[in-house]
Amino acid sequence: MKERNFIINPSLLACDFLHLEKSLADTVGAGVEMLHADVMDGVYVPNISFGFDIIEKICSVVTVPVDVHMMTVVPEKYLERLRDAGAYSVTVHSDIGDADKVAGILKDVRALGMKAAVALKPAFGAECVRDLIPLCDMVLVMTVEPGFGGQRFMERMLPKIAAVRQMADRDNPAVSVQVDGGVNVSNIGSCAVAGADNFVVGTSFFRSGDLPRAAASLKAAAEAAVGGISAREEP
Ligand code: DX5
Ligand code: ZN
Repeated sequence: MKERNFIINPSLLACDFLHLEKSLADTVGAGVEMLHADVMDGVYVPNISFGFDIIEKICSVVTVPVDVHMMTVVPEKYLERLRDAGAYSVTVHSDIGDADKVAGILKDVRALGMKAAVALKPAFGAECVRDLIPLCDMVLVMTVEPGFGGQRFMERMLPKIAAVRQMADRDNPAVSVQVDGGVNVSNIGSCAVAGADNFVVGTSFFRSGDLPRAAASLKAAAEAAVGGISAREEP
């Protein structure tokens, strides 16, 4: 397996909204490589989060890329607004329409100069993104049902991470594989071994009480798990 750069990507759903600017500064100061912004419309998922004005404010003060996870039924309506807000990447869910519709959205995201990603809810298998991988910069494998932070990681998603990684190695090796939902220091290693390289962390990061330490431990756990594998494979 090609060596991958691990990215710790805190989900801002769990940040301190009362002191957003400070929370953002503390998060970026902890040494993370990316920030994850969850947009929920109350229709695709039974929850509502924040919108474009907040994303724009976030992008205006941070020095790392902002990765926007669109848990919305019509993300295609808002791609230009996301570009104008400063989004680095946009993730849309595989089941918001047929494969042609999702493919069209991924192409439009890229045409606007952003990175494009497709997400799989737990009920959808890796085969749902097979034909989309050439159009993607990232595939997100959800490890909880989307809609809320603080849920329990679903171990049974690990084979799907591996299947997506395998397809990507064949069809578009540059694709990153992201995991989102319940990721913590105890399970990040299995995600990395399965093939994930971009780790969304909400509760486990923001409730840790020590953000720099949490970022470092998460990354070290991912690297140790993969390092352990290559060490064991050596003759
Ligand atoms: C869930 C969101 C996640 C969530 C992750 O629908 O997509 O990004 O905030 O939070 P934790 O890490 O707490 O599961
Ligand atoms: Zn998310």
